[in-house]
Amino acid sequence: STYKVGYLIGSLSADSLNRKLANALIRVAPSDLEFVEIEIKDLPLYNSDLDDDYPPAGVALKEAIAAVQALLFVTPEYNRSIPGALKNAIDWASRPWGKNSFNHVPAAVIGASPGAIGTALAQQSLRGVLSYCNARQMTSPEAYIQVTPGLITDDGEITKPDTEKFLTEFMQEFRDHTCRVLTVLPR
Ligand code: FNR
Repeated sequence: STYKVGYLIGSLSADSLNRKLANALIRVAPSDLEFVEIEIKDLPLYNSDLDDDYPPAGVALKEAIAAVQALLFVTPEYNRSIPGALKNAIDWASRPWGKNSFNHVPAAVIGASPGAIGTALAQQSLRGVLSYCNARQMTSPEAYIQVTPGLITDDGEITKPDTEKFLTEFMQEFRDHTCRVLTVLPR
């Protein structure tokens, strides 16, 4: 069967490295994964006063997550942590209390940076947040992607065979992880 994967990009930048990485991941993914972007750029800042009357962007976010079977987070690292825009989206989706959109959802995290640490600390921080939100995360492999100029073209072609192989395997593992989780926790 085919799995619908929603992907969230932690950067709002038009020429985001992480958007390029997401395009690359989609290109090398197994053919039984279908991808839809879950956009975070139009969300206002989370405010619990609105829990009884979610703004349209918050409702749309929760519906988009409910419509997919797995989530892929592709994020930069900002000041050694999660970009505020992504954390904000997670906060919206996790609420109102008792209606956490992440409960039991298969998920994976990955990220790209020009720096050598390759978003390791942002991902560690994101993993902690997603654990609390009770997402079913793929714990291995981890993928800390240092993007050097030309590594990924604008349309997501990976120019280095080793990296292409690694990302291909990452996506195969994500598919297998999703399949295992959905066997016990169908959605
Ligand atoms: C960064 N950058 C960065 N890089 C990193 O590896 N670790 C970090 O902690 C930070 N911190 C940081 C903070 C802020 C506010 C900005 C704007 C940038 C650099 C970052 O990796 C680089 O700008 C990437 O290109 C951002 O990802 P996108 O937007 O290209 O996907």
